[in-house]
Amino acid sequence: MATTPHPEFAAGLGISRWRIEPFRLFFPLGVLFAWIGVGHWLTYATGVTATYSCKSHALVQIQAFLMSFAAGFLLTAVPRRTRTAPPSAAEMIAMAAALIVTSIAAMAERWFVSELAYFCVFLILAQFAIRRFAGRAAGRRPPAAFVLVPIAAVHGLVGAAMVAAAEVQNSPAWTEHLGMLLITQGVFLCLTVGVGGLILPLMSGTPPPADLGSSPRELWKAAAYGAAGAAIFASFIFEQAGSTQIAPLLRAIVVAVGLGFGGNAWRPPGRTGVHRKLVWISAWMIPVGLAISALYPDYRVPALHILFIGGFGLMAFGVATHVSLSHLEMPRAASGRPLAIILMGAAFLLALFIRFTADASDTYFQHLGWASAVWILGSAAWLLYLGPKLLRR
Ligand code: HEM
Repeated sequence: MATTPHPEFAAGLGISRWRIEPFRLFFPLGVLFAWIGVGHWLTYATGVTATYSCKSHALVQIQAFLMSFAAGFLLTAVPRRTRTAPPSAAEMIAMAAALIVTSIAAMAERWFVSELAYFCVFLILAQFAIRRFAGRAAGRRPPAAFVLVPIAAVHGLVGAAMVAAAEVQNSPAWTEHLGMLLITQGVFLCLTVGVGGLILPLMSGTPPPADLGSSPRELWKAAAYGAAGAAIFASFIFEQAGSTQIAPLLRAIVVAVGLGFGGNAWRPPGRTGVHRKLVWISAWMIPVGLAISALYPDYRVPALHILFIGGFGLMAFGVATHVSLSHLEMPRAASGRPLAIILMGAAFLLALFIRFTADASDTYFQHLGWASAVWILGSAAWLLYLGPKLLRR
């Protein structure tokens, strides 16, 4: 495989900016998917649509919105770390197509097609990453925490196979439930702890982790991350078997330890920049949401939105802000408080509050509509601020 010593050099070779910096395409695309998934509640609450599907909303949010942000990040970061070639045009098109198909099929309640496309997302990412990390041309190895990235893919692949299998006649009822747990929580719990092990120290100004294999200590760390991934996977099987409190609590502990010690999130970021604080807050929202869902199983889904809106969603936008501001060379914004980023953070936290209280109110669907509208406005502020800069040639 050809090496790419420096992005500017790659640009000099005539490789397009979209391939060198795939996040420019996949972050804005992810925002559009999020609007489809979250907007579902706004259109229902305002009477524009007559039906709703919790499963469509959940799958679009996780399989398309979050996955598009993850793809944008990984397709950009892996070639830089390994100093290998950026994704090919075919890989970029295939990834965008798989994300679009999984989202449209989920909205159309074509679960089998949606899962097939989601399966393809992992296959594209897997061949892309394996060829670069295993290739002889690879410049640097990933850090130990990245052991959780293939484990995240295993959650996604097994989950997709189970949700698709549930479509087959006479398949056992547990396949869909367990598959949904693996997809909606497993993939991004592993990815946030795994990728967080690199990005959180980088963002907060603490020393970044060493390369895997650089010392015996890193091998022990990799084994510990592998054990964390296995514990997360096992917790879903326990939950499916009826452990509705201990299993999510186990996940909360594993994630808190992983992000707290592995990602240095036990202390607030040492650098200024509002997006760094938002990412730090989001890191703690993840175990908090899991713990509250464990303590109050009757309030499970609203409690899980602390994880979905305050954790995964806020972290995706916070990390995307960091990647964008650094690549677009906006150091003042990266250490300051751009209004759009403050609006995004405030809107997400307000939407979380409205979503959390919806189930305890007498106006459930109105709450959902308002939460959805506020969340969309917050993400629109982000897109208006960074979108034109990302899409500029
Ligand atoms: C901001 C506005 C949002 C609203 C109003 C909202 C509303 C809802 C509702 C009503 C449900 C179904 C509840 C039930 O099964 O009875 C749900 C489930 C779900 N939502 Fe959201 N949501 C929002 C944002 C998000 C975001 C940003 C994400 C992901 C990043 C997300 C991910 C999920 C998932 C994965 C489920 C399935 C949970 C489960 O059953 O295990 N939601 N949401």
